[in-house]
Amino acid sequence: MKKILFAASEGVPFIKTGGLADVVGSLPKCIDKRYFDVRVILPKYTCMKQAMKDKLEYITHFYMDFNWKNVYVGILGANVDGIQYYFIDNESYFGGFKPYGDNALYEIEKYAYFSKAVLSALPLIGFQPDLIHCHDWQTGLIPVYLKERFHGGEFFAGMKSVITIHNLKFQGKWDPRTVQSITGLPEYYFTADKLEAYKDANLLKGGLVFADAITTVSDTYAQEIKTPFYGEGLDGLLRARSGDLRGIVNGIDYEEFNPETDPYIVKPYNAVNFRKEKGKNKKALQQELGLEQDEKKMMIGVVSRLTDQKGFDLIAYVMDELCRDGIQLVVLGTGEERYENMFRHFAWKYPEKVSANIFYSEELSHKIYASCDAFLMPSLFEPCGLSQLMSLRYGTVPIVRETGGLKDTVEPYNQYESTGTGFSFANYNAHEMLAAVRYAEQIYYDKKREWNKIVDRAMAADFSWHVSASKYQEMYDWLIG
Ligand code: ADP
Ligand code: GLC
Repeated sequence: MKKILFAASEGVPFIKTGGLADVVGSLPKCIDKRYFDVRVILPKYTCMKQAMKDKLEYITHFYMDFNWKNVYVGILGANVDGIQYYFIDNESYFGGFKPYGDNALYEIEKYAYFSKAVLSALPLIGFQPDLIHCHDWQTGLIPVYLKERFHGGEFFAGMKSVITIHNLKFQGKWDPRTVQSITGLPEYYFTADKLEAYKDANLLKGGLVFADAITTVSDTYAQEIKTPFYGEGLDGLLRARSGDLRGIVNGIDYEEFNPETDPYIVKPYNAVNFRKEKGKNKKALQQELGLEQDEKKMMIGVVSRLTDQKGFDLIAYVMDELCRDGIQLVVLGTGEERYENMFRHFAWKYPEKVSANIFYSEELSHKIYASCDAFLMPSLFEPCGLSQLMSLRYGTVPIVRETGGLKDTVEPYNQYESTGTGFSFANYNAHEMLAAVRYAEQIYYDKKREWNKIVDRAMAADFSWHVSASKYQEMYDWLIG
């Protein structure tokens, strides 16, 4: 039995701000239990839902040298859906109303603490993984510490690490002296071949240099990040390590996201009866959100963090033009104020057509995936994207820009061959996006049978974890030997 530990800053069902949590929550469940014992370690945030906190049981605690202090490390555990979870507890780091704060330096201290605590905790919980699977910059120091201070001891000898890049944009950067002082790493770790990048200490870079293998969440993104445009300054390093870098596309939890059994939606449906039943969800949502109630109106959904990454400047640019078309637009998201206000403004200007829901809601997100006809995701870059996979699963046709995982998971409609699961455009250009949306409108209104065949194909596409989980397993086997 090979032992794998996932280390991450968020994971469903305990804490979620985005797709990382979905992946950390669903992938371990799909790794073959006959060959792998996969466990997950997360921070114990004070802001987790009470119902989840109630599941946690105290295991032990100890004190760890960190940032010139002797700091408390509590370890808790829970077994949910057959997966053993561990939690690192220290309320001075993981208190507050949300997992991530705005103070960049404090975030670095917090996740440096987490990374060191994860390794320090292992001998005490009696779990000796063969491999630690790290996710994003927050766990970037784990491969570094593993090679540096934990290396000598027998317990850690031969322990491998992998780092998965979910988003290269976030790297955890600060000036080297401060980071050296916080982490306690020797000075010679802060050179350009290790943690230093462009005069900063860079935690993600540390992970990318010291991990035994690197993955990212789609094939196209794995290629893109080796170029300057998508490489966020680390494309050179990624080119240098390209032999150890692979793209494995994300899946989603097909039980959690299932239009036949989804408890949040008004009218369950499936690939056979969606023609009759799916529209009932749209009608109910129109009523709930105060939009014009018309089952025939094409409804386009957006569920997203409202940030530049997601292409909202394209939407802002053509919003008036779009709103003059015969469509409705339902938005659910939070993020940058200018996008929040942009959508609020258009909801005020076109109350029958635009609904702006500027908050976070699991329930409303499921209703949108189920009720809309199309889903818009014109991202500037997109490592994988899960929202388009959820849309496909619910027969909601994605309209996407051809980048990263969007390119790998949405097959553009071809009217001559009657193939494709969605609509797409190539260049980051607002009118190219508008043209793709209008092409979709045209098929929706004028060629309904064709539209429904797109829905058929979308719902038949399989983005459960089966294929990708076996690719992770192959990689674990290859590394552990
Ligand atoms: P990212 O991780 O870059 O935010 P993904 O598409 O991979 O993008 O994943 C986003 C996840 O977060 C999806 O599960 C999506 O449904 C969810 N999500 C984003 N914003 C909200 C919101 N306001 N309310 C509920 N769920 C949201
Ligand atoms: C990141 C990316 C998103 C990806 C998710 C899970 O948040 O922005 O594209 O789907 O991680 O891997």
